[in-house]
Amino acid sequence: MAEPAIELRNVSFAYSSHSGRNVLDGVSLTIASGEFVGLVGGTGAGKSTLLYTMNGVIPHLVGGRMGGSVRVRGKDTAQHGPSSLAGEAGMLFQDPDSQLFALSVREEVEFGPANLGLKGWERERRTAAALAETGLSALADENPRELSVGQRQKVALASVLAMEPEILLLDEPVSALDWRNGHEIYELLRKLNSRGKTIVVVEHNTEWLAEYAQRIVGIDAGGIAFDGEPETVLSEGKAKKMGLKIPCAVQLSHELGLGFAAATPKKLAELLRGKK
Ligand SMILES: Nc1ncnc2c1ncn2[C@@H]1O[C@H](COP(=O)(O)OP(=O)(O)O)[C@@H](O)[C@H]1O
Ligand SMILES: [Mg+2]
Repeated sequence: MAEPAIELRNVSFAYSSHSGRNVLDGVSLTIASGEFVGLVGGTGAGKSTLLYTMNGVIPHLVGGRMGGSVRVRGKDTAQHGPSSLAGEAGMLFQDPDSQLFALSVREEVEFGPANLGLKGWERERRTAAALAETGLSALADENPRELSVGQRQKVALASVLAMEPEILLLDEPVSALDWRNGHEIYELLRKLNSRGKTIVVVEHNTEWLAEYAQRIVGIDAGGIAFDGEPETVLSEGKAKKMGLKIPCAVQLSHELGLGFAAATPKKLAELLRGKK
């Protein structure tokens, strides 16, 4: 079997500033190479914390007590921090401003490839490609601080893409974007996934995940509450109990008493046609 993209074994974590309570509690999770996985759960469930363990931000950059082990494409995060794992996994933080510092969008996006030691043509190629893919080419000379929060979110994403990591870890990547821009970002993620990139995205909007994710993992109180295909997990009572919105197509399948659920309107239509 191919090596997993990410393998968590019995992972626990307590922030040093959080009264010693375990925010993650015995999480075991394997994400295969090439999967598109959504992480869902209520506010404070531990989704961001879980994501931080997947490229070594925890335990290397955040203080606390970690138990268990995490392997990223075979590399143990106990030995490898985020910069050592830059080619393996890239992280888009929930707050884009926490990762922006340059005076122009281009410099911001170029920083990663420069840091990888890439020179001249290759650095320019990656920067231009990341700007084009995120629709930022026309804003390359702007100061990120003067852009809207949604645009800054895209700049932060472009700077992750320019590193060309095999795994993308994205914490609510479209939270500040309108529908059209959010749609463009998810289409981009689908394209990257079809080229073999592994995608792990924290997303509270289950409609996006119904449309784009192959697998949804529900996090509750620092543990895994459910794990499966969108149509299954989002139609179970558990999702509702966690306060997640059930996607319209799943809800409609249920209301029609079909005995199966479809994650998207398109799938529902296909399934209904097939039944005739
Ligand atoms: N830097 C931090 N220091 C102390 N506690 C934190 C920190 N970040 C998050 N927490 C706490 O950990 C818990 C889980 O947070 P988080 O992983 O951000 O949840 P989610 O992303 O699901 O909303 C919350 O109770 C939160 O208050
Ligand atoms: Mg979060």
